[in-house]
Amino acid sequence: LARGGAEADLAGLHVVVTAGGTREPIDPVRFIGNRSSGKQGYALAATAAARGARVTLVAANTALPDPAGADVVRVSTTAELRAAVRAAAADADAVVMAAAVADFRPAEPAEAKIKKADDSSAPEIRLVQNPHILRELGHARLRSGQTVVGFAAETGDAHGTWLEHGRAKLAKYGVDLLIVNEVGTDLTFGADHSAAVVIGADGSEEPVPDGPKGRLADVIWDRVLKVRSRTD
Ligand code: CTP
Ligand code: CA
Repeated sequence: LARGGAEADLAGLHVVVTAGGTREPIDPVRFIGNRSSGKQGYALAATAAARGARVTLVAANTALPDPAGADVVRVSTTAELRAAVRAAAADADAVVMAAAVADFRPAEPAEAKIKKADDSSAPEIRLVQNPHILRELGHARLRSGQTVVGFAAETGDAHGTWLEHGRAKLAKYGVDLLIVNEVGTDLTFGADHSAAVVIGADGSEEPVPDGPKGRLADVIWDRVLKVRSRTD
């Protein structure tokens, strides 16, 4: 699908995109984090703005230039990301969760920096599970007719192929579209390109060959429009 850049097929839509990776404090100077660069989320925000959408980009710990035409809300923890997404999603036509959200956080972050003891001992950090933002959005639909899109990095194992795991996740979270990357075949973290399969709640499966993250972003917005044309 060739795009001249003049097409404003997302005009009139408010879309919310999350990008980057959340960080969970251990103490005031340390955190549990992940390697997400935020490039896919930024590509989604830039592409949507170029196609005429009003874009809210919720960015967690990214070091990338603001995409042209997007309102950027900066967050760090999963709790902050959740609050920002839910606030923006209240009047959003589509929400795309491209951020890598920490599954766990320290149960009781220390208020002062943790000092090491003189013996060789180390503290134990108890973790608790974070709320699952995508599952909440998929099942609650904060605005009627809202399209909800998630990402999943999967590997095959004894219980099924990576694509089967992706299908199970799409159903479990009640989302319209899930962008599934097979991990282990290539390193998508920090890369400018990515291959994926876009799976839909309607049973569709669209492989997107390895290419720039901006091209995958265009495919995702095309699919969002298709979902909306069925439900409007
Ligand atoms: N996600 C979320 N809230 C969480 C964890 C993940 O909203 N607490 C979202 C991510 O933004 C992504 C999707 O859920 O869109 C899938 O994330 P992923 O880590 O691949 O899967 P999980 O659902 O966390 O399952 P697991 O890591 O156990 O495979
Ligand atoms: Ca996870």
